[in-house]
Amino acid sequence: MEPLSKFAFNNNQRLMKPKILVTGGTGYIGSHTVVELQKSGFDVVIADNLCNSKKEIVDQIEKITGKRPKFEKVDLKNREQISQLFDKNTDIKGVIHFAAYKAVGESMQFPLMYYHNNLFSLINILQVMMKHNINNFVFSSSCTVYGNPDYLPVSEKAHVKPAISPYGNTKQMSEEIISDTVQTGNLRSISLRYFNPVGAHNSGLIGELPFGIPNNLVPFITQAAIGKRKILKVFGNDYQTPDGTCIRDYIHIEDLAKAHVAAIERLLKLKQKDDYEVFNLGTGKGYSVLEVIKAFEEATKIKLQYEFTERRPGDVPQVWADSSLANNELGWKAQKDLRDMMKSAWKWEKNLEAGKIF
Ligand code: UD1
Repeated sequence: MEPLSKFAFNNNQRLMKPKILVTGGTGYIGSHTVVELQKSGFDVVIADNLCNSKKEIVDQIEKITGKRPKFEKVDLKNREQISQLFDKNTDIKGVIHFAAYKAVGESMQFPLMYYHNNLFSLINILQVMMKHNINNFVFSSSCTVYGNPDYLPVSEKAHVKPAISPYGNTKQMSEEIISDTVQTGNLRSISLRYFNPVGAHNSGLIGELPFGIPNNLVPFITQAAIGKRKILKVFGNDYQTPDGTCIRDYIHIEDLAKAHVAAIERLLKLKQKDDYEVFNLGTGKGYSVLEVIKAFEEATKIKLQYEFTERRPGDVPQVWADSSLANNELGWKAQKDLRDMMKSAWKWEKNLEAGKIF
């Protein structure tokens, strides 16, 4: 049989590995992770309530991998629905948990909605896992837990700082809930602290899909370049950084997704050094907002219109990762550079605009 696309892969690779539940699997990071899991031979079931994603992403994943992941529309706030999913899929061996709200500004407006959704979902999934004796859990965390770090690059040894937003607090609280649960001896877990995931799959078939006006830099850049947004605002040019704009560690979404495969394999192969481990996922390189703009312009030959405005409340001046622990322990290293990130983000935006995706 003809593969569905040039990205499809050999069927034999899939035969051996167990079934993994990916919550939030139609979302940005989730969908790329599903692709990488399938490419590595895992069988995947997605649970998503589609509150911030589209069901059609499942079709897109199938176009890339040649295999349709199972999809269950489940709201993780409803424990009964999760129980039913586990009753139907008795062969799930591990869970990668992405499903959560993630907009910082929105979390300040609606803190209870954030605590309710992000924490209830986590507690419910852990409770159902315990009931079914499934004990491998990868959690989607964030470098936001470091706040404004005392030293750079930030390693996992850095202090967790008081959260600036309810969103950030849900990540910190979630890590504590997981760590406490691990103490009971019934769970083994890895939390992955992402720096700034950007870009899209090189096929141009999946990518970030912000509803409304994007809060994050790269989707705003691509929307401004395509003409959906008027002018890019650079939030502050008076930071104590070489060009005055904030510095972040941008990481290609495909690299980030691959780290999740490494993490679940580490759990399944009992390779952990501790039952609860935390890894930073970044490239180790920081780029300023102006450098990102320049990289986009060079990669696409499009000139961006931008203006400097006030600082955005809650932004830290600079942060980038020490990811050597992930490099050494997970055997994972980010491969793609800023140019790859910009090119893939742009390809995705153009495909969206051309109506090639939905
Ligand atoms: C933000 C969140 C972080 C979250 C992550 C999820 C804040 C303070 N932090 O990270 O907790 O985990 O998103 O994706 O919201 N910028 C502009 N103009 C724009 C948009 C952004 O200049 O229109 C600047 C920001 O000031 C920042 C950089 O670009 O310096 C990156 O911003 P963004 O993409 O929103 O990521 P973070 O703020 O690092």
